[in-house]
Amino acid sequence: MPCLRNVPFFNYPRAYLDEREELLRIFEDVGQRGAFIMQKDLRDFENALAAYTGAKYAVGVANATDGLELAWMALGLRPGDEVICCSHTMLATAASIKTAGGVPVPVELGEDNLIDPDAVEAAINPRTVGIMPTQLNGHTCNMDRIMAIAKRHGLFVVEDAAQALGSRFKGKHAGTFGQAAAISFFPAKVLGCLGDGGGVITNDYGIFDKVYQLHDHGRDVNGDIKSWGRNSRLDNLQAAILNHRLANYDKIVSRRRAIASMYQERLGSMEELQLPPAPNADPDHFDIYQNYELQADRRDNLKEHLRVNGIGTLIQWGGKAVHQWERLGFTVKLPKVERFFERCIMLPMNMFINDEDVHYVCDQVQAFYRK
Ligand SMILES: Cc1ncc(COP(=O)(O)O)c(C=O)c1O
Repeated sequence: MPCLRNVPFFNYPRAYLDEREELLRIFEDVGQRGAFIMQKDLRDFENALAAYTGAKYAVGVANATDGLELAWMALGLRPGDEVICCSHTMLATAASIKTAGGVPVPVELGEDNLIDPDAVEAAINPRTVGIMPTQLNGHTCNMDRIMAIAKRHGLFVVEDAAQALGSRFKGKHAGTFGQAAAISFFPAKVLGCLGDGGGVITNDYGIFDKVYQLHDHGRDVNGDIKSWGRNSRLDNLQAAILNHRLANYDKIVSRRRAIASMYQERLGSMEELQLPPAPNADPDHFDIYQNYELQADRRDNLKEHLRVNGIGTLIQWGGKAVHQWERLGFTVKLPKVERFFERCIMLPMNMFINDEDVHYVCDQVQAFYRK
C-alpha cells in the first residue's frame, strides 16, 4: 500500500528551493561585486552574530569543528592536557580536543541527557585543563553548575554550541558562558548556509585575536602576520546568505518551538516514550529544537514502522556515542550513555514540515504502540 504521506527527516533541495529567488539575488549581488573572500558581508555577519548572541567578538570560520579546535589552540592546549566532554555528542567535539593536541575524556550524561556535572567533577585530575559541554539539540546545559566547577578547579570552558544558536540558560545565550564557543552553519542547522560554515564567539579579546590569526594564515585584523596560521575562513558568499537568514532567525525558532509543542501535546502522555523538555517547561531554559530527540521503547521497530509509512527519522551519529569508537582509543564504559543510544531517535523537526505532517507523524507513532 502506498504511504499516506511522505515526511522526510530533512529536505536538502528545499533548503535552496524555498528561498531560490532571494538566494539568486544574493549570488548575483556578491558575484557582481566579486566579493568572495573576507569582504563586507562577512564582517557584517560577524557583527550580527556577536550582537545576536551577546558575545563581544565573533569570527567566521570554515566549520564548527575547526572553530572548536582553533578555540582550544588559542587557549594553549598542550600535549597530555585533558579536557572533559560529554559522550552524547558528535565525535567532532572530542576530535577538536584531540587535533588541538589534548586528550578528550568523555563522561556520563545527566538527567537532562547532556553532560553530567557530577561526572565532570569526578573526572577531574591534575592533568585536567578544561571542560567542554555540548549544548545539544538546541538545549543549554545547566551552566551555573558547569561554570562553578570550572571556577573551583581553575579550568577553561569551551562550549560546543554547534547546535545551539539562540538557545539560552537563565536568559544568557549558549556559547557566552565559557572562554569561547563554536556554532555550526551546516545546511541542516537551524541557521544553515549552502555548504560548510561556522563561527567562533568569545568575550575575550585575546582569544578573539588568536583565533583570528589562526584562521587566516597568522594575520591579525590589520593584515599583519603575527604567528603561524592556516586557512579556515568562512566564505563571503555563505556569510551573505547567513546575513539574510539570521534576520529571520527568530521566526524560524518560533516555528520549531511550535512543532515541539505539537509533539508534546500528541505524544507527551505515552509511557513508551521519553520526550525532550517542552518549550516553556522550565523558565531557566529557552530551547531552539535543533533536533527533536526522544527515547523510545522498541526503538528500531518504531523506526522501521515510520519508514514504511513514509516518515524519515534519524539515529544520530550512526547510533554510537563518542566513547563507543573503541578504535580511536577509548576504553571507558558509560552505561547511561550506552542505554541512551539504544533508545534514542529523532523525529522530523524542520521548516519544511507543516502541521498536517506533524499530526501524521504522531498518528503513526501512536499506531505503532497500539499494534
Ligand atoms: C554537536 C556538534 N558538534 C560539532 C559539530 C561540527 O560542526 P561542523 O559540521 O560545522 O564542523 C556538529 C555539527 O554537525 C555538531 O552537531
